Amino acid sequence: IPVDAFDLVIFGGTGDLARRKILPGLFRRFLSGQMTEDSRIIGAARSDMDADGFRQLVRDAIAEFGGAESKEAEAIDKFAARLDYVSIDAKGEGGWSDLAGKVRDGVVKAFYFSVAPSLFGDLAERLHLHHIADAESRIVVEKPFGRDLESARALNQSLAEHFQESQIYRIDHYLGKETVQNLMAIRFGNVLFEPLWNNHYVDHIQITVAETVGVGGRGSYYDKAGAMRDMVQNHLMQLLCLIAMEPPNKFEADEVRTEKLKVIRALQPVDHHHIVRGQYDKDGDEPSYREDAENPRSFTESFVAMKVGIDNWRWAGVPFYMRTGKKLKSRASEIAVVFKDLGHSIFEGDEARHRNILAIRLQPNEGIDLQVTIKEPGPGGMRLIDVPLDMTFSEALQLEADEAPDAYERLIMDVIRGNQTLFMRGDEVEAAWAWTDPIINGWEARNDVPKLYDQGSAGPDDALMLMHRDGRRWRDIKG
Ligand code: BG6
Repeated sequence: IPVDAFDLVIFGGTGDLARRKILPGLFRRFLSGQMTEDSRIIGAARSDMDADGFRQLVRDAIAEFGGAESKEAEAIDKFAARLDYVSIDAKGEGGWSDLAGKVRDGVVKAFYFSVAPSLFGDLAERLHLHHIADAESRIVVEKPFGRDLESARALNQSLAEHFQESQIYRIDHYLGKETVQNLMAIRFGNVLFEPLWNNHYVDHIQITVAETVGVGGRGSYYDKAGAMRDMVQNHLMQLLCLIAMEPPNKFEADEVRTEKLKVIRALQPVDHHHIVRGQYDKDGDEPSYREDAENPRSFTESFVAMKVGIDNWRWAGVPFYMRTGKKLKSRASEIAVVFKDLGHSIFEGDEARHRNILAIRLQPNEGIDLQVTIKEPGPGGMRLIDVPLDMTFSEALQLEADEAPDAYERLIMDVIRGNQTLFMRGDEVEAAWAWTDPIINGWEARNDVPKLYDQGSAGPDDALMLMHRDGRRWRDIKG
Protein backbone atom coordinates (compact mmCIF):
# COMPACT_ATOMS: atom_id res chain seq x y z
CA ILE A 1 0.00 0.00 0.00
CA PRO A 2 1.55 3.33 -1.02
CA VAL A 3 2.26 5.81 1.74
CA ASP A 4 1.22 9.46 1.52
CA ALA A 5 3.40 11.78 -0.54
CA PHE A 6 6.38 13.02 1.46
CA ASP A 7 9.45 15.19 1.45
CA LEU A 8 12.20 13.43 3.36
CA VAL A 9 15.27 15.50 4.18
CA ILE A 10 18.29 13.41 5.12
CA PHE A 11 20.83 15.41 7.11
CA GLY A 12 24.08 13.54 6.66
CA GLY A 13 22.68 12.41 3.30
CA THR A 14 26.13 11.71 1.88
CA GLY A 15 27.29 9.71 4.92
CA ASP A 16 27.91 6.04 5.43
CA LEU A 17 24.53 5.07 6.88
CA ALA A 18 22.68 6.99 4.17
CA ARG A 19 24.66 5.28 1.41
CA ARG A 20 24.56 1.80 2.89
CA LYS A 21 21.06 1.59 4.28
CA ILE A 22 18.76 4.57 3.97
CA LEU A 23 19.04 5.40 0.27
CA PRO A 24 19.12 1.83 -1.13
CA GLY A 25 16.23 1.04 1.24
CA LEU A 26 14.19 3.95 -0.05
CA PHE A 27 14.89 2.82 -3.60
CA ARG A 28 13.48 -0.63 -2.77
CA ARG A 29 10.33 1.01 -1.36
CA PHE A 30 10.13 3.05 -4.56
CA LEU A 31 10.40 -0.12 -6.65
CA SER A 32 7.66 -1.76 -4.62
CA GLY A 33 5.37 1.19 -5.31
CA GLN A 34 5.19 2.19 -1.65
CA MET A 35 7.04 5.45 -2.22
CA THR A 36 5.00 7.16 -4.88
CA GLU A 37 6.38 9.37 -7.63
CA ASP A 38 5.16 12.57 -5.99
CA SER A 39 7.50 12.02 -3.01
CA ARG A 40 10.98 13.47 -2.79
CA ILE A 41 14.21 12.89 -0.96
CA ILE A 42 16.46 15.83 -0.26
CA GLY A 43 20.04 15.14 0.78
CA ALA A 44 21.47 17.78 3.09
CA ALA A 45 25.11 17.73 4.09
CA ARG A 46 28.18 19.88 4.30
CA SER A 47 29.64 18.76 0.98
CA ASP A 48 29.46 21.33 -1.72
CA MET A 49 27.64 19.46 -4.47
CA ASP A 50 24.56 20.02 -6.61
CA ALA A 51 21.52 17.84 -7.12
CA ASP A 52 23.20 16.00 -10.00
CA GLY A 53 26.20 15.22 -7.81
CA PHE A 54 23.88 13.78 -5.18
CA ARG A 55 21.99 11.75 -7.78
CA GLN A 56 25.27 10.23 -8.89
CA LEU A 57 26.20 9.47 -5.28
CA VAL A 58 22.86 7.70 -4.83
CA ARG A 59 23.29 5.72 -8.06
CA ASP A 60 26.71 4.61 -6.83
CA ALA A 61 25.27 3.68 -3.43
CA ILE A 62 22.54 1.58 -5.07
CA ALA A 63 25.13 -0.10 -7.29
CA GLU A 64 27.28 -0.93 -4.28
CA PHE A 65 24.71 -1.76 -1.62
CA GLY A 66 21.43 -2.21 -3.49
CA GLY A 67 21.68 -5.95 -4.25
CA ALA A 68 19.59 -7.30 -7.11
CA GLU A 69 17.66 -4.03 -7.41
CA SER A 70 20.76 -2.28 -8.69
CA LYS A 71 19.96 -3.79 -12.13
CA GLU A 72 16.73 -1.82 -12.49
CA ALA A 73 18.21 0.93 -14.68
CA GLU A 74 14.93 2.51 -15.75
CA ALA A 75 13.56 2.63 -12.22
CA ILE A 76 16.84 4.10 -10.95
CA ASP A 77 16.40 6.98 -13.45
CA LYS A 78 12.90 7.62 -12.15
CA PHE A 79 14.05 7.40 -8.57
CA ALA A 80 16.96 9.78 -9.25
CA ALA A 81 14.47 12.32 -10.56
CA ARG A 82 12.89 12.37 -7.08
CA LEU A 83 16.20 13.41 -5.49
CA ASP A 84 17.48 16.84 -4.63
CA TYR A 85 20.35 18.24 -2.59
CA VAL A 86 21.14 21.21 -0.38
CA SER A 87 24.57 22.03 0.93
CA ILE A 88 23.98 23.03 4.52
CA ASP A 89 25.80 24.30 7.57
CA ALA A 90 24.22 22.67 10.62
CA LYS A 91 25.66 25.21 13.03
CA GLY A 92 25.48 28.29 10.82
CA GLU A 93 23.06 29.92 8.43
CA GLY A 94 24.34 28.55 5.11
CA GLY A 95 21.81 26.63 3.07
CA TRP A 96 18.79 26.96 5.34
CA SER A 97 16.75 29.35 3.23
CA ASP A 98 17.57 27.19 0.24
CA LEU A 99 16.17 24.19 2.13
CA ALA A 100 13.12 26.18 3.24
CA GLY A 101 12.43 26.89 -0.44
CA LYS A 102 12.58 23.20 -1.36
CA VAL A 103 10.46 21.54 1.32
CA ARG A 104 6.84 21.56 0.20
CA ASP A 105 3.71 22.22 2.23
CA GLY A 106 0.84 19.79 1.92
CA VAL A 107 2.95 16.62 2.07
CA VAL A 108 4.35 14.67 5.01
CA LYS A 109 7.60 16.34 6.06
CA ALA A 110 10.24 14.17 7.68
CA PHE A 111 13.77 15.06 8.71
CA TYR A 112 16.27 12.27 9.23
CA PHE A 113 19.17 13.29 11.51
CA SER A 114 21.82 10.88 10.26
CA VAL A 115 24.53 12.97 11.90
CA ALA A 116 26.50 13.09 15.16
CA PRO A 117 24.18 13.56 18.16
CA SER A 118 26.02 16.78 19.03
CA LEU A 119 24.20 18.33 16.04
CA PHE A 120 20.67 17.19 16.95
CA GLY A 121 19.90 20.34 18.94
CA ASP A 122 21.24 22.68 16.23
CA LEU A 123 19.24 20.98 13.51
CA ALA A 124 16.04 21.01 15.56
CA GLU A 125 16.47 24.69 16.30
CA ARG A 126 17.18 25.73 12.73
CA LEU A 127 14.30 23.71 11.33
CA HIS A 128 12.12 25.66 13.71
CA LEU A 129 13.69 29.10 13.18
CA HIS A 130 13.45 28.85 9.42
CA HIS A 131 9.85 27.61 9.62
CA ILE A 132 10.78 24.50 7.70
CA ALA A 133 9.22 22.07 10.17
CA ASP A 134 5.68 22.45 11.44
CA ALA A 135 3.60 20.77 14.16
CA GLU A 136 2.97 17.77 11.90
CA SER A 137 6.57 17.23 10.81
CA ARG A 138 8.59 14.26 12.01
CA ILE A 139 12.20 13.97 12.97
CA VAL A 140 14.14 10.72 12.95
CA VAL A 141 17.19 10.27 15.14
CA GLU A 142 19.79 7.54 15.15
CA LYS A 143 21.73 5.88 17.89
CA PRO A 144 23.91 6.49 19.78
CA PHE A 145 21.24 8.41 21.68
CA GLY A 146 23.65 9.75 24.26
CA ARG A 147 26.40 7.88 26.08
CA ASP A 148 24.86 7.98 29.54
CA LEU A 149 21.72 9.16 31.29
CA GLU A 150 22.85 12.75 31.54
CA SER A 151 23.68 13.15 27.85
CA ALA A 152 20.50 11.32 26.79
CA ARG A 153 18.45 13.66 28.95
CA ALA A 154 20.19 16.66 27.42
CA LEU A 155 19.43 15.34 23.91
CA ASN A 156 15.80 14.71 24.79
CA GLN A 157 15.54 18.23 26.17
CA SER A 158 17.13 19.84 23.15
CA LEU A 159 14.70 18.04 20.83
CA ALA A 160 11.75 18.77 23.11
CA GLU A 161 12.34 22.50 22.78
CA HIS A 162 10.97 22.41 19.26
CA PHE A 163 9.23 19.06 18.80
CA GLN A 164 6.56 17.09 20.62
CA GLU A 165 7.33 13.51 21.65
CA SER A 166 4.77 12.39 19.04
CA GLN A 167 6.98 13.93 16.34
CA ILE A 168 10.24 12.26 17.44
CA TYR A 169 11.22 8.86 16.00
CA ARG A 170 14.23 7.35 17.77
CA ILE A 171 15.51 4.47 15.68
CA ASP A 172 16.67 1.16 17.05
CA HIS A 173 17.03 -0.81 13.83
CA TYR A 174 16.52 -4.10 15.70
CA LEU A 175 12.86 -3.16 16.10
CA GLY A 176 12.59 -2.96 12.31
CA LYS A 177 13.77 -6.53 11.86
CA GLU A 178 11.02 -8.84 10.70
CA THR A 179 11.84 -11.52 13.26
CA VAL A 180 12.00 -9.10 16.14
CA GLN A 181 8.44 -8.15 15.36
CA ASN A 182 7.70 -11.81 15.10
CA LEU A 183 8.52 -12.11 18.79
CA MET A 184 5.34 -10.23 19.49
CA ALA A 185 3.35 -12.23 16.94
CA ILE A 186 4.55 -15.50 18.47
CA ARG A 187 3.84 -14.41 22.02
CA PHE A 188 0.55 -12.65 21.53
CA GLY A 189 -0.84 -14.37 18.44
CA ASN A 190 -0.76 -17.90 19.84
CA VAL A 191 -2.66 -19.34 22.75
CA LEU A 192 0.08 -21.90 23.29
CA PHE A 193 2.93 -19.90 24.74
CA GLU A 194 1.56 -17.14 26.92
CA PRO A 195 0.21 -19.38 29.72
CA LEU A 196 3.73 -20.84 30.14
CA TRP A 197 5.53 -17.50 29.85
CA ASN A 198 6.35 -16.95 33.52
CA ASN A 199 8.38 -18.15 36.49
CA HIS A 200 6.19 -21.23 37.03
CA TYR A 201 7.32 -22.81 33.79
CA VAL A 202 10.40 -20.94 32.56
CA ASP A 203 13.76 -21.91 34.00
CA HIS A 204 15.74 -19.16 32.31
CA ILE A 205 16.03 -17.13 29.13
CA GLN A 206 19.10 -16.69 26.92
CA ILE A 207 19.59 -13.80 24.54
CA THR A 208 22.55 -14.04 22.17
CA VAL A 209 23.59 -11.55 19.51
CA ALA A 210 26.85 -12.88 18.10
CA GLU A 211 28.73 -11.20 15.29
CA THR A 212 31.70 -12.29 13.21
CA VAL A 213 32.77 -8.78 12.22
CA GLY A 214 35.34 -6.85 14.23
CA VAL A 215 35.49 -3.11 14.77
CA GLY A 216 38.01 -2.35 12.04
CA GLY A 217 37.11 0.97 10.39
CA ARG A 218 34.80 2.06 13.22
CA GLY A 219 37.40 1.92 15.97
CA SER A 220 37.31 5.57 16.93
CA TYR A 221 33.57 5.45 17.63
CA TYR A 222 33.52 1.96 19.07
CA ASP A 223 36.43 2.39 21.44
CA LYS A 224 34.50 5.10 23.28
CA ALA A 225 31.36 2.99 23.35
CA GLY A 226 32.11 -0.72 23.79
CA ALA A 227 29.60 -3.55 23.55
CA MET A 228 27.61 -2.30 26.52
CA ARG A 229 26.76 1.06 24.96
CA ASP A 230 26.82 -0.12 21.35
CA MET A 231 24.59 -3.19 21.67
CA VAL A 232 23.27 -3.89 25.17
CA GLN A 233 21.79 -0.53 26.13
CA ASN A 234 19.72 -0.52 22.95
CA HIS A 235 19.37 -3.69 20.83
CA LEU A 236 19.61 -6.35 23.54
CA MET A 237 17.51 -4.25 25.88
CA GLN A 238 14.77 -4.05 23.25
CA LEU A 239 14.85 -7.82 22.75
CA LEU A 240 14.66 -8.34 26.49
CA CYS A 241 11.69 -5.99 26.71
CA LEU A 242 9.75 -7.71 23.95
CA ILE A 243 10.33 -11.12 25.53
CA ALA A 244 9.56 -10.03 29.08
CA MET A 245 6.86 -7.38 28.79
CA GLU A 246 3.26 -7.85 29.84
CA PRO A 247 0.77 -8.14 26.97
CA PRO A 248 -0.08 -4.62 25.83
CA ASN A 249 -3.81 -3.97 25.49
CA LYS A 250 -3.36 -3.15 21.85
CA PHE A 251 -0.55 -3.16 19.33
CA GLU A 252 -0.28 0.59 19.48
CA ALA A 253 2.69 2.84 20.07
CA ASP A 254 2.13 4.01 23.60
CA GLU A 255 0.57 0.77 24.80
CA VAL A 256 3.63 -1.20 23.68
CA ARG A 257 6.18 1.37 24.81
CA THR A 258 4.65 1.71 28.25
CA GLU A 259 4.94 -2.05 28.76
CA LYS A 260 8.57 -2.02 27.63
CA LEU A 261 9.34 0.84 29.99
CA LYS A 262 7.92 -1.16 32.90
CA VAL A 263 10.35 -4.00 32.16
CA ILE A 264 13.36 -1.68 32.06
CA ARG A 265 12.32 -0.10 35.34
CA ALA A 266 12.00 -3.54 36.94
CA LEU A 267 15.50 -4.67 35.91
CA GLN A 268 17.71 -5.44 38.87
CA PRO A 269 21.05 -3.70 39.10
CA VAL A 270 23.71 -6.12 37.88
CA ASP A 271 26.16 -7.44 40.45
CA HIS A 272 29.66 -7.18 38.97
CA HIS A 273 30.20 -10.89 39.59
CA HIS A 274 27.35 -11.50 37.16
CA ILE A 275 28.90 -9.76 34.23
CA VAL A 276 31.87 -10.68 32.05
CA ARG A 277 33.65 -8.37 29.65
CA GLY A 278 35.89 -9.58 26.86
CA GLN A 279 38.14 -8.22 24.17
CA TYR A 280 39.21 -10.18 21.10
CA ASP A 281 42.83 -11.18 20.88
CA LYS A 282 45.18 -11.25 17.92
CA ASP A 283 44.76 -14.26 15.67
CA GLY A 284 47.67 -14.84 13.28
CA ASP A 285 47.44 -11.98 10.81
CA GLU A 286 44.04 -10.94 12.07
CA PRO A 287 44.48 -7.84 14.22
CA SER A 288 43.49 -7.77 17.87
CA TYR A 289 40.76 -5.49 19.14
CA ARG A 290 43.39 -3.03 20.33
CA GLU A 291 44.97 -2.93 16.88
CA ASP A 292 41.58 -2.49 15.21
CA ALA A 293 40.73 0.28 17.63
CA GLU A 294 44.19 1.80 17.25
CA ASN A 295 44.42 2.09 21.01
CA PRO A 296 47.15 -0.16 22.45
CA ARG A 297 45.92 0.37 26.01
CA SER A 298 42.21 0.10 25.38
CA PHE A 299 40.08 -1.41 28.16
CA THR A 300 36.95 -1.26 26.00
CA GLU A 301 34.92 -4.47 25.75
CA SER A 302 34.08 -6.06 22.41
CA PHE A 303 32.10 -8.76 24.25
CA VAL A 304 29.82 -8.75 27.22
CA ALA A 305 27.82 -11.49 28.94
CA MET A 306 25.62 -11.02 31.97
CA LYS A 307 22.93 -12.41 34.17
CA VAL A 308 20.11 -10.11 35.11
CA GLY A 309 16.86 -10.51 37.01
CA ILE A 310 13.55 -8.74 36.66
CA ASP A 311 11.76 -7.68 39.80
CA ASN A 312 8.13 -8.36 39.03
CA TRP A 313 5.57 -11.12 39.60
CA ARG A 314 5.96 -12.78 36.26
CA TRP A 315 9.74 -13.12 36.31
CA ALA A 316 10.73 -13.29 39.98
CA GLY A 317 13.58 -15.80 40.26
CA VAL A 318 14.04 -16.31 36.49
CA PRO A 319 17.52 -15.32 35.29
CA PHE A 320 17.96 -13.68 31.91
CA TYR A 321 21.39 -14.39 30.44
CA MET A 322 22.47 -12.03 27.69
CA ARG A 323 25.63 -11.95 25.60
CA THR A 324 26.89 -10.15 22.56
CA GLY A 325 30.28 -9.79 20.96
CA LYS A 326 32.36 -9.20 17.88
CA LYS A 327 34.62 -11.71 16.10
CA LEU A 328 32.74 -14.67 17.49
CA LYS A 329 32.22 -18.08 15.97
CA SER A 330 29.25 -17.26 13.76
CA ARG A 331 26.83 -14.48 13.05
CA ALA A 332 23.88 -15.75 15.00
CA SER A 333 21.23 -14.05 17.06
CA GLU A 334 18.60 -15.92 18.95
CA ILE A 335 16.43 -15.84 22.00
CA ALA A 336 15.91 -19.11 23.80
CA VAL A 337 13.23 -19.69 26.39
CA VAL A 338 14.35 -22.71 28.38
CA PHE A 339 11.47 -24.34 30.24
CA LYS A 340 11.71 -26.12 33.56
CA ASP A 341 12.23 -29.83 34.02
CA LEU A 342 9.25 -32.12 34.33
CA GLY A 343 8.12 -32.28 37.94
CA HIS A 344 7.76 -36.06 37.71
CA SER A 345 8.68 -38.57 35.04
CA ILE A 346 6.65 -41.74 34.49
CA PHE A 347 9.39 -43.30 32.37
CA GLU A 348 11.48 -45.52 34.56
CA GLY A 349 15.19 -45.66 33.84
CA ASP A 350 15.19 -42.43 31.85
CA GLU A 351 17.87 -40.46 33.64
CA ALA A 352 18.41 -37.77 31.02
CA ARG A 353 17.18 -34.28 31.60
CA HIS A 354 14.59 -33.44 28.97
CA ARG A 355 13.70 -29.88 28.48
CA ASN A 356 11.47 -27.97 26.19
CA ILE A 357 13.27 -25.06 24.65
CA LEU A 358 11.69 -22.49 22.40
CA ALA A 359 14.42 -20.83 20.35
CA ILE A 360 13.56 -17.87 18.19
CA ARG A 361 16.25 -17.34 15.57
CA LEU A 362 16.50 -13.66 14.71
CA GLN A 363 19.25 -13.99 12.12
CA PRO A 364 20.30 -15.75 9.97
CA ASN A 365 17.83 -18.52 8.97
CA GLU A 366 15.06 -16.65 10.73
CA GLY A 367 12.66 -19.06 12.28
CA ILE A 368 11.58 -20.89 15.40
CA ASP A 369 12.73 -24.14 16.83
CA LEU A 370 10.84 -25.88 19.61
CA GLN A 371 12.71 -28.70 21.30
CA VAL A 372 10.33 -31.48 22.25
CA THR A 373 10.82 -34.91 23.75
CA ILE A 374 9.64 -38.02 21.92
CA LYS A 375 10.19 -41.76 22.07
CA GLU A 376 13.31 -42.95 20.36
CA PRO A 377 12.10 -45.17 17.51
CA GLY A 378 12.80 -48.89 17.81
CA PRO A 379 12.08 -51.79 20.07
CA GLY A 380 14.36 -50.75 22.96
CA GLY A 381 11.54 -49.78 25.30
CA MET A 382 10.53 -46.26 26.30
CA ARG A 383 13.76 -44.43 25.62
CA LEU A 384 13.27 -40.72 25.18
CA ILE A 385 15.09 -38.30 22.93
CA ASP A 386 14.85 -34.57 22.28
CA VAL A 387 14.16 -33.46 18.74
CA PRO A 388 13.60 -30.05 17.16
CA LEU A 389 10.30 -28.93 15.69
CA ASP A 390 12.12 -26.59 13.40
CA MET A 391 10.56 -23.98 11.16
CA THR A 392 12.39 -21.53 8.98
CA PHE A 393 10.13 -18.66 8.00
CA SER A 394 11.40 -18.38 4.43
CA GLU A 395 10.67 -22.06 3.78
CA ALA A 396 7.32 -22.09 5.52
CA LEU A 397 6.19 -18.99 3.63
CA GLN A 398 8.07 -19.77 0.42
CA LEU A 399 9.77 -16.39 0.42
CA GLU A 400 12.53 -15.46 -1.93
CA ALA A 401 15.73 -14.38 -0.19
CA ASP A 402 15.68 -10.63 0.52
CA GLU A 403 11.96 -10.42 -0.08
CA ALA A 404 11.22 -9.06 3.38
CA PRO A 405 11.98 -5.35 3.68
CA ASP A 406 15.17 -4.46 5.45
CA ALA A 407 14.85 -2.94 8.93
CA TYR A 408 15.61 0.61 7.83
CA GLU A 409 13.19 0.76 4.94
CA ARG A 410 10.35 -0.57 7.07
CA LEU A 411 11.08 1.94 9.81
CA ILE A 412 11.26 4.89 7.41
CA MET A 413 7.89 3.94 5.95
CA ASP A 414 6.52 3.82 9.51
CA VAL A 415 7.77 7.37 10.03
CA ILE A 416 5.85 8.51 6.95
CA ARG A 417 2.76 6.64 8.14
CA GLY A 418 3.09 8.28 11.55
CA ASN A 419 3.37 4.99 13.42
CA GLN A 420 5.72 5.16 16.43
CA THR A 421 5.21 1.61 17.70
CA LEU A 422 8.66 0.44 16.61
CA PHE A 423 10.51 3.51 17.86
CA MET A 424 11.86 4.22 21.32
CA ARG A 425 10.17 6.77 23.49
CA GLY A 426 12.33 9.29 25.35
CA ASP A 427 11.55 7.86 28.79
CA GLU A 428 12.45 4.35 27.60
CA VAL A 429 15.88 5.46 26.41
CA GLU A 430 16.51 7.31 29.66
CA ALA A 431 15.45 4.30 31.75
CA ALA A 432 17.80 2.07 29.75
CA TRP A 433 20.70 4.44 30.48
CA ALA A 434 19.74 4.67 34.14
CA TRP A 435 20.22 0.88 34.33
CA THR A 436 23.40 0.87 32.18
CA ASP A 437 25.25 3.75 33.86
CA PRO A 438 26.08 2.08 37.19
CA ILE A 439 27.48 -0.96 35.35
CA ILE A 440 29.81 1.14 33.21
CA ASN A 441 30.71 3.46 36.09
CA GLY A 442 31.59 0.42 38.19
CA TRP A 443 34.00 -0.83 35.51
CA GLU A 444 35.60 2.58 35.26
CA ALA A 445 35.93 2.94 39.02
CA ARG A 446 37.54 -0.50 39.32
CA ASN A 447 39.70 -0.07 36.20
CA ASP A 448 38.21 -3.30 35.01
CA VAL A 449 40.29 -5.08 32.37
CA PRO A 450 38.33 -7.17 29.84
CA LYS A 451 39.31 -10.83 29.45
CA LEU A 452 40.95 -11.71 26.15
CA TYR A 453 39.15 -14.21 23.96
CA ASP A 454 40.06 -16.06 20.80
CA GLN A 455 38.62 -14.89 17.52
CA GLY A 456 36.09 -17.41 16.25
CA SER A 457 35.25 -18.58 19.77
CA ALA A 458 32.15 -18.12 21.92
CA GLY A 459 33.84 -15.42 24.02
CA PRO A 460 35.97 -15.67 27.15
CA ASP A 461 35.76 -18.78 29.32
CA ASP A 462 34.46 -16.69 32.18
CA ALA A 463 31.28 -16.20 30.17
CA LEU A 464 30.79 -19.95 30.08
CA MET A 465 31.43 -20.07 33.83
CA LEU A 466 28.74 -17.48 34.39
CA MET A 467 26.18 -20.13 33.47
CA HIS A 468 28.05 -23.23 34.65
CA ARG A 469 28.05 -21.85 38.16
CA ASP A 470 24.27 -21.91 38.02
CA GLY A 471 24.22 -25.46 36.62
CA ARG A 472 23.20 -24.18 33.18
CA ARG A 473 24.91 -23.74 29.86
CA TRP A 474 24.80 -21.48 26.88
CA ARG A 475 23.38 -22.81 23.68
CA ASP A 476 25.82 -23.30 20.87
CA ILE A 477 26.32 -20.27 18.61
CA LYS A 478 25.23 -21.69 15.26
CA GLY A 479 25.05 -19.51 12.20
C1 BG6 B 1 24.78 -1.52 15.25
C2 BG6 B 1 26.07 -1.52 16.02
O1 BG6 B 1 23.82 -0.74 15.93
O2 BG6 B 1 24.32 -2.84 15.11
C3 BG6 B 1 27.10 -2.40 15.34
O3 BG6 B 1 26.57 -0.20 16.14
C4 BG6 B 1 26.54 -3.77 15.06
O4 BG6 B 1 28.28 -2.49 16.10
C5 BG6 B 1 25.18 -3.68 14.40
O5 BG6 B 1 27.45 -4.47 14.25
C6 BG6 B 1 24.54 -5.05 14.28
O6 BG6 B 1 23.40 -4.96 13.47
P1 BG6 B 1 22.90 -6.19 12.61
O7 BG6 B 1 21.66 -5.68 11.95
O8 BG6 B 1 23.99 -6.53 11.65
O9 BG6 B 1 22.64 -7.30 13.59
